[in-house]
Amino acid sequence: MSDATAKREERRKFQAIRGTRDLLPPETELWNRVEQIAHEVFSTFGYGEIRTPILQMTDLFARSIGAETDVVAKEMYTFIDEMQGLPDPANFAVSPDEYVNSVEEGIKSNEIQVTNSNLRALARLKAELEMFRVRADGQSVEEAHLKFRIAASQIRFGDSISLEPEATASVCRAYIEHNMQQLPQPVKLYYMGPMFRRERPQKGRYRQFYQIGAEILGGTDAPAIDAEVIEMLMTFFDKCGLLGSTLYINSIGHNADNCRRGYVEKLRAALEKVKDKLGPDSQRRIDTNPLRVLDSKLESEQGIIATLPHIADHLCDECKTHYTAVKRQLELRGVLYQENWRLVRGLDYYMRTTFEITAPGLGSQNAVCGGGRYDGLVELLGGPPTKGIGFAIGEDRLILSLQESGKGQVPQGRDIYIAWMGEKAHATAIRAAKDLRSAGFSVELPPLEQKFGKALGHADKLGAKYALILGDNEVSEGLWTLKTLADGTQQKLTEADLLEFLRKQEKVSS
Ligand code: HAM
Repeated sequence: MSDATAKREERRKFQAIRGTRDLLPPETELWNRVEQIAHEVFSTFGYGEIRTPILQMTDLFARSIGAETDVVAKEMYTFIDEMQGLPDPANFAVSPDEYVNSVEEGIKSNEIQVTNSNLRALARLKAELEMFRVRADGQSVEEAHLKFRIAASQIRFGDSISLEPEATASVCRAYIEHNMQQLPQPVKLYYMGPMFRRERPQKGRYRQFYQIGAEILGGTDAPAIDAEVIEMLMTFFDKCGLLGSTLYINSIGHNADNCRRGYVEKLRAALEKVKDKLGPDSQRRIDTNPLRVLDSKLESEQGIIATLPHIADHLCDECKTHYTAVKRQLELRGVLYQENWRLVRGLDYYMRTTFEITAPGLGSQNAVCGGGRYDGLVELLGGPPTKGIGFAIGEDRLILSLQESGKGQVPQGRDIYIAWMGEKAHATAIRAAKDLRSAGFSVELPPLEQKFGKALGHADKLGAKYALILGDNEVSEGLWTLKTLADGTQQKLTEADLLEFLRKQEKVSS
């Protein structure tokens, strides 16, 4: 390999990991703007920000999102966080009894969590200890100890940890952990941050993506709550300037024989009849989760799905009434919606209201937000019976849609470039930069002296609006030259007039 090729190879190693990406300026301005709008809008609805750790126990997601869902079964970034501080089982100086004792101590003191996998590992370890003690087949102590050391080194204790694939489960965990049911109810929380799912990357689908979400926990299941959550969401989209979005709603009832469970059985029976015409994914889902067949995007299945029974015809009376009232509440708030009986969502914790918002410019990954009600979730995670509803916006997709519709423009470039020449002018320039920045203007102050021509060229390239020209004359006269770069006009101003002038211009242009 030539040196040049070797160097290229080396460079190639350090790229963002597949499905992840760097967000760069000026685009990050737009991200900040969108996040700022979220902070503002959500706080007007009484929500406070929660920040949960990215690392959470794997079981939290398996329990809440559902072990059979794509997210949990295929897409989580999971690893074993091994227990630190145990003696090395491969070390001859540690006897098998001592090693097993230290593991048991770890479990007693909760340094090793009492999870199924740790208990299974302990049982395996104890079986190895027993074999060491019995020493079958005339093994010597040394041989038996060696065998134990090899086996014990492969039995691992620790916690299975995952990167958050979504935040609803984490927020519910935090609600329980911090006894938030003791606070005035409902508790309204919002969050923004990175989530991780090992999906096939494509436009609008990443392995590290960002969500802005909100959850309302512990209130009633009054339909006005569902409608207000959606109203807040649409207000946010509106403030962001998102155009052409569509809100789809549905009710998936609750898990009872006279409601969703009954419907699922009818759906399963209907699917069995057309099984041969379905693709392998849908065929599998007839057994695991027939509702998910309704999510299918396969062209060949669309005609068949259209003939399947609708959930709206199988809701119990309470869920039907709830759904009707949610629609009425949306109408009271002037929120436009379309009903979509196929909207079942891909996570197991939902009941009754589900919703999704699509936006243009996103290709096949056009869902910019998803959400719904999940009244049983907090209880499922070990908390008190608690009502809950919320949503999460895919921030990457929101930004993409804003950009595609031309609403994603962010002002670029500096306000003022200070072109200075000479020692004295440099000192004045440093002071001027400080004052202008503290007045809120963005200022580029070159670190080295440059000829004015070159400096103005640089100012142009950076997209500066003005060049402040400071040379010996300007400094001694106390009159500074301000050049408007768009039309080349120049004027002389005192320091005080300069600030006044810039402030006025800013008002005119904003
Ligand atoms: P979700 O539908 O899985 O719901 O995700 C919500 C949104 O996150 C999607 O509509 C999409 O915009 C975005 N999203 C999901 N996966 C990706 C990806 N791989 N790349 C880019 N964007 C993605 C939830 O996560 C629920 N926790 C929402 C919720 C909150 N329900 C109740 N409360």
